[in-house]
Amino acid sequence: MSSYQKIADLFKTPPVGSQVTVKGWVRTFRNNQFIALNDGTCLQSLQVVVDSDKEDPIVLTQLSPGAAISAEGTVVESQGKGQAIELKAEHIHVYGGSDPEKYPLQPKKHSLEFLREIAHLRFRTSTFGAVFRIRHALAFAVHKFFNDRDFYYLHTPIVTASDAEGAGEMFRVSTLNPLQPPLTEDGGIDYKQDFFGRETNLSVSGQLEAELGALALSRVYTFGPTFRAENSNTSRHLAEFWMIEPEVAFADLKDNQDLAEAMLKYLIGYVLEHNAEDLAFLEERLIKEESQKPQDQRSAMNLIEKLEFCLAEDFERLSYTDAIRVLMNSKPNKKKKFQFVIEDWGADLQSEHERYLVEKHFKKPVILTDYPKEIKSFYMRMNDDGKTVGAMDILFPGIGEIIGGSQREERLDVLTARMDEMGIPQEELYWFLDIRKYGSCPHAGFGLGFERMVQFVTGMANIRDVIPFPRTPGNASF
Ligand code: 4AD
Ligand code: MG
Repeated sequence: MSSYQKIADLFKTPPVGSQVTVKGWVRTFRNNQFIALNDGTCLQSLQVVVDSDKEDPIVLTQLSPGAAISAEGTVVESQGKGQAIELKAEHIHVYGGSDPEKYPLQPKKHSLEFLREIAHLRFRTSTFGAVFRIRHALAFAVHKFFNDRDFYYLHTPIVTASDAEGAGEMFRVSTLNPLQPPLTEDGGIDYKQDFFGRETNLSVSGQLEAELGALALSRVYTFGPTFRAENSNTSRHLAEFWMIEPEVAFADLKDNQDLAEAMLKYLIGYVLEHNAEDLAFLEERLIKEESQKPQDQRSAMNLIEKLEFCLAEDFERLSYTDAIRVLMNSKPNKKKKFQFVIEDWGADLQSEHERYLVEKHFKKPVILTDYPKEIKSFYMRMNDDGKTVGAMDILFPGIGEIIGGSQREERLDVLTARMDEMGIPQEELYWFLDIRKYGSCPHAGFGLGFERMVQFVTGMANIRDVIPFPRTPGNASF
């Protein structure tokens, strides 16, 4: 790789007067003279000025949107407005041309729906460049946050034999011939003959294994892909998504809330500090989009304002029981405007209720705790009332649930009783029970849906637009 300059670096400290080489993809080529060149290192394209009298005419015909080129020349102060510098090109090399008639990314505004169909090319748009630079920054910040706090990154398995979480339908992993699977005597599929000698699936969560790590390493976190075969075709659900799951020994529900709030604020702060240009662009994009909506449906805050607001405010913390009281007294509940009207304590909260609490009532992020045991997982710690468990969900404006977590049941007898009640076989989870037999201790953790975080920070309305290649019901292209 011969040496060349990143366009971001040229804008940061413009080396006016020096000779440089840049490489990237042509966004536009105007008047047979001006190339907008983008190499993905920053939002802004570099204007490359071609001397069309001196340049090879064949090269000129190849300079169409999408072409990959290098340009060598002198950095000069720009005459035009909109940029401080430009490159006066003396030599241009075309690595790969593009067909101006067929290239799907024409220099005009494309809808996000259309861009989803050409997800292999959408990285080359300003919007997706910004989204994926921010996605990267968030991933990096996750590791930095935990590393700085003495957490170890633990890689939990993706193929699993346990469906203990009950978090959703799973995807089967099998090498058996689907047309003629080996059968057991009673006619079922004989998974003993399958690759792993038992039935296996893609994991819905790394939590149970992370707990094992935490009870030796004190503080661990996972950050990996998780899979759920639910048929939820919403703007907040993916069949394959990435989840961050910290797990902390000697921690209770209060510690868990503190950690989650600190982490969310750190991530927001990191992007505000490091991705200002991309955020400003996405904010502009949203302002334009919002201006198309009726007045009463517009959001009260712009993107950056909203992020700064979440940084500055303490999250509202309240119990499920208190939240039910708020909801039952709310206008939409009394006027039966909710699709699911809350009748009693014990009702599962739907996203309309979560959003009411966050967006209408408290108008800030909310942490709900201590849910009825019936609507939460078996591993959550039983409270003294015998009715609720030490669960916590964090609800964000525009997103709804962004984090789900709990203090874990560390008492063997309480846990096994709960598993029996819920019909969860103990043999399969002997290892999960073993850490309650040998040196059990209070511990807690949570799961952050990474794409929902990227959605919140970028303001992208659809979760399919914050992961490079979304997997959703009926779609696994690319
Ligand atoms: O609330 P969930 O199901 O919790 C767990 O899986 C626990 N094991 C976490 C833990 O305590 N370690 O999922 C956690 C988060 C949700 O709050 C949501 O942000 C995200 O994962 N999530 C999804 N994101 C995208 N698509 C889906 N289908 C999601 N399901 C959950
Ligand atoms: Mg949840």
